[in-house]
Amino acid sequence: MSKGPVTLSIDVGGSNIKAMPLDPKGKPLAERIKLPTPRPATPAAVVAAVAAVAAVAEKSGAFDRVSVGFPGVIRDGCVLTAVNFDGRWSGFDLQAAVQKKLKKPTRVLNDADMQGYGAIHGIGVELTVTLGTGVGSGLFVDGKLVPNLELGHHALRKGETYEEQLGQKALDRVGKRRWKKRVKLAIAQIERAFWPRRLCLGGGNARLIDWKLPAGVEVVPNEYGILGGIALWNDTK
Ligand code: BGC
Repeated sequence: MSKGPVTLSIDVGGSNIKAMPLDPKGKPLAERIKLPTPRPATPAAVVAAVAAVAAVAEKSGAFDRVSVGFPGVIRDGCVLTAVNFDGRWSGFDLQAAVQKKLKKPTRVLNDADMQGYGAIHGIGVELTVTLGTGVGSGLFVDGKLVPNLELGHHALRKGETYEEQLGQKALDRVGKRRWKKRVKLAIAQIERAFWPRRLCLGGGNARLIDWKLPAGVEVVPNEYGILGGIALWNDTK
């Protein structure tokens, strides 16, 4: 373990809230903790659930600061959208709320951006697309984040968005075979639009990808959503 502050990295997902303490190099210090995302997922309920996960994590060791990946557009720690959550999220200062509740310095970022931080090599254009409850995307240029690319809400096919075609609801509705065909189409479309050096596919449903992917396209472990949390503090010592 390298010396320095311990970061509790928290991934707020559509189904679960997961947390893991990381050392300054981003190496896990304990097992991942998982609690179900409260429903309705209102700001107060989610902040309380984040505190509950942090309280469990604290039992296996103290932490000094907190990173949160959140499934919506985030600017300066404030939530601008949270389409898969309930209640009044727009304008909610999640960063301040978590910081106040846990009494630790806190940084909040879009969940796919955080996952991307876990996946990137830092060279050229790299894009992470997460396939879960929603469809997220994290775009990087030479390791620098272009925040809040919301590819999920852009058109993919038949007037429907990536999220409408590839999100959890779509998978449940059309089944794996048709969903996989759509993923193939999405990969082709993304490649033609962004020409990424690396296209990383993450999120819980990326595990369903069982065919040979084109060069430069790979499935990355969903754990990167948490491991990426260390990068939020790269500008500090
Ligand atoms: C949200 C994104 C998020 C993605 C994955 C989408 O519905 O708009 O901000 O990254 O879901 O959670």
